[in-house]
Amino acid sequence: MTTSAAQWNNPLRDARDKRMPRIAGPSALVIFGVTGDLSRKKLMPAIYDLANRGLLPPGFGLVGFARRDWADQDFMKVVHDAVKEHARTPFNEAVWQQLAEGIRFVQGTFDDDASFDNLASCLAALDAERGTGGNHAFYLSIPPGAFPTVVNQLKRAGLAQTAPDQWRRVVIEKPFGHDLASAKELNRTVNEVFPEESVFRIDHYLGKETVQNILALRFANQLYEPIWNSNYVDHVQITMAEDIGLGGRAGYYDGIGATRDVIQNHLLQLLALIAMEEPVSFKPADLRAEKVKILSATRPAQPFEETTSRGQYTGGWQGGQKVPGLLEEGGFSPESKTETFGAITCEVNTRRWAGVPFYLRTGKRLGRRVTEVAVVFKRAPHLPFDDTATEELGQNALVVRVQPDEGVTIRFGSKVPGNTMEVRDVTMDFGYGHSFTESSPEAYERLLLDVLLGEPSLFPKNDEVELSWEILDPILDFWARKDEPALEKYKAGTWGPPSAETMTSRTGRQWRRP
Ligand code: BG6
Repeated sequence: MTTSAAQWNNPLRDARDKRMPRIAGPSALVIFGVTGDLSRKKLMPAIYDLANRGLLPPGFGLVGFARRDWADQDFMKVVHDAVKEHARTPFNEAVWQQLAEGIRFVQGTFDDDASFDNLASCLAALDAERGTGGNHAFYLSIPPGAFPTVVNQLKRAGLAQTAPDQWRRVVIEKPFGHDLASAKELNRTVNEVFPEESVFRIDHYLGKETVQNILALRFANQLYEPIWNSNYVDHVQITMAEDIGLGGRAGYYDGIGATRDVIQNHLLQLLALIAMEEPVSFKPADLRAEKVKILSATRPAQPFEETTSRGQYTGGWQGGQKVPGLLEEGGFSPESKTETFGAITCEVNTRRWAGVPFYLRTGKRLGRRVTEVAVVFKRAPHLPFDDTATEELGQNALVVRVQPDEGVTIRFGSKVPGNTMEVRDVTMDFGYGHSFTESSPEAYERLLLDVLLGEPSLFPKNDEVELSWEILDPILDFWARKDEPALEKYKAGTWGPPSAETMTSRTGRQWRRP
């Protein structure tokens, strides 16, 4: 039995116990760019995992749209193989069979009207056969250059229009533009067809449990709030380090670089969650309003020669293996100036944060894969010990470990056992694996479900995207203008170029070595 759209739109649903599983109503998801890596490794497995957890409606429809000359059966096999290889939850034949019944493929190109008319017929047939209720989400996992064509085709084919009790949503993968001007243009194009409340921009970091936990940590506890300000916090470090290189990703990455790829979205969103004020409620509008306020108050610290760093990896050794430099990776131009490491300093001009630098860094082929946010506290104003007793004492820190070892660490000084007074740093750890038996869903599971539920809290709005570009544009312009010194190089397996160190050491601070 399927649940009617009207029941799912019932406002009383909001009054439910929020711990109850949220199950998507009748709907179909169309994926453009279905032959790409993201679709195979993340989207298809996430859809299966949702089905396996009983969170999709029984008649759910999944439609692939691509140029390949495939029949439904061929696409079904692609989904099947992707699920077998990448799904988080075990394979269950009965769940798969039910999902497979709703899988369709539409062959076509983006500029061909007939292809979109076929898509419309396919969705109408699904609505009739499987009760998907005219509720359709369109996932654009395609190069941004193709966004305008596709959204306009959806409009032309009547696929963006809704009848009462129906919804149509568009899901957009980054990059959301290349700079402020192009982001505005993109937002305008998309918003001409889909109203903002129907636009879901994916920032998969917001789907991660540990990232959502920042809000719980800050706003469900009394412990941290009194010290969460410039009186106590010395600086904040946000690190997203990866050990992988860019082999096979030249098409997307060359000319984009680390800053546009990751700082513009994931890292500035982390900054917003760490720095924002308490929202009036967790309703999407209230949460997003606080993020917008904090991003509006955030500016890149100057002078950029000293407050930023960028570099490109060269060959080296990593995990006992010899790895190539960026310029030797297939597909990159030998003159490529694309940065694979980017670091910036932000200031957040609010009463809470004035004077506290926020350091953001990301890079490929760094020492190890780790994402963390470290809130580093000021030293105690007075230490009533001999100098030698506190030689090994660092600064207190609260570290949100986003991945891979999810949890929170607090670092503080403790007496070393023995007859003398010596104080040394120790840590107190919370680890998800130790405290909870539930395993965390993949970010894409959470986000795809939210799209189908029409729950926009974890999706950056158009103004957040534009504000992020406003922060980065001056730095990107500066880097583009500056010929000397040339883009710095760093060896694979290290922690970035020398300027990354000087951007913190100039004020006596130091990056953590996670
Ligand atoms: C993506 C970036 O958004 O995030 C990639 O485009 C990066 O360059 C990836 O590798 C990392 O995601 P995660 O979830 O593995 O940290």
